[in-house]
Amino acid sequence: MIKELKQNPSLPSCFLSTGESSSIRHAPVNKQGADLSGLWQGSSVISMGGLLKCAVNLLLCFFAAILLGCASASRTHTNVAQQPFGKTKEGVDVFLFTLRNAHGAEARISNYGGIVVSLKVPDRNGKLGDVVLGYDNLDDYLKETPYFGALIGRYGNRIARGHFTLDGHEYTLATNNYPNALHGGLKGFDKVVWQPLILASPDGPSLKLSYLSKDGEEGYPGNLSVTVIYTLLEDDALRVDYTATTDKDTVVNLTQHSYFNLAGKGDILNHVVMMPADKFTPVDSTLIPTGELRPVEGTLFDFRKPTAIGARINQDDEQLKFGKGYDHNWVFNKQVGEFTQLARVYEPGTGRVLEVFSTEPGLQFYSGNFLDGSLKGKGGWVYQFRNGFCMEPQHFPDSPNQPSFPSVVLKPGQTYKNLIVYKFSVQK
Ligand code: GLA
Repeated sequence: MIKELKQNPSLPSCFLSTGESSSIRHAPVNKQGADLSGLWQGSSVISMGGLLKCAVNLLLCFFAAILLGCASASRTHTNVAQQPFGKTKEGVDVFLFTLRNAHGAEARISNYGGIVVSLKVPDRNGKLGDVVLGYDNLDDYLKETPYFGALIGRYGNRIARGHFTLDGHEYTLATNNYPNALHGGLKGFDKVVWQPLILASPDGPSLKLSYLSKDGEEGYPGNLSVTVIYTLLEDDALRVDYTATTDKDTVVNLTQHSYFNLAGKGDILNHVVMMPADKFTPVDSTLIPTGELRPVEGTLFDFRKPTAIGARINQDDEQLKFGKGYDHNWVFNKQVGEFTQLARVYEPGTGRVLEVFSTEPGLQFYSGNFLDGSLKGKGGWVYQFRNGFCMEPQHFPDSPNQPSFPSVVLKPGQTYKNLIVYKFSVQK
């Protein structure tokens, strides 16, 4: 049962209601269907008017809230706190949601860009530490960010020269990463305010974010209705569950852009990475895939056996030069939509382990090569070259222009789905 605790901005926060609910059927992590039973519709109070009806509704609301509270205590998790996080330049209020599981692991997520602002998980001694890069306040995110912790859309990674053709129409996007389009454009999903909704889920504290990207936004066709549900599971995994629908043929490639540092300080070169991928997509000098699926065998891109990020990163290699390090898409031998492990990362100092799972066919492993000491982050940490790495499950970069890559086309009547799980544990 998943209940949605809907907050109507025009009502005091005690006016929570359960309303429409979504049925999410991504095996294997959420096998339950959703319970659609609504107890009370908050907005109906306003429209009915009349003191008596209002009083009756208030009473109903009161009992519903008690019932809901009892149900939540026994079966569902509502351990989500909400606090103000500032305002956008346009004056829109933005919030910070704190999701905490029973062991004390904690994710703080903003509805601005769906940004994971902090993520605290234990090390091998049980000490909690923040394992993602980012800022202490909203203003810094508004000023400049290399997509720290953000939701990425409509198109994760690059589209060559900001052009693609679909159904015979040519679409033009902003070339915000010259000469290419990157991560959804000038104002991608990382820079929009999402509609937040705290969910009561049996799986853990949960936050649903919704956004309607209008037809033509950033040059993409179709009204795209997107929902992302973040859930902090009891086994210290952050689950990110995406769905999207469109009213016109379009292209979609959504991902998550957290920068991890499992030590919580310094560079990431001693982190040991394993990726069970046979191939990767080599790029040109502008980081657009050449179209080749190159076997990793015998290359510096073979992470099928656990290897420290720093072990080979500075070797003389054309692909590493183009990326200034690792900034490539690894290709997995699987069916698109199959939920599999894409990576395991181990940090020997703290014993922390990150495992990445997804239904996506590719993984962009980016070793933080554009961090250059110009950004001061949380707690005054100046982010230097390779102080964080990203693991972005995705369809391959530039797929709209590469017919041999798995399709990223979404049509009316279809539902885009993508499930990402970042699971934390320790190795003794
Ligand atoms: C992605 C890209 C990188 C870089 C970062 C953001 O991971 O692959 O090339 O643009 O985002 O700085």
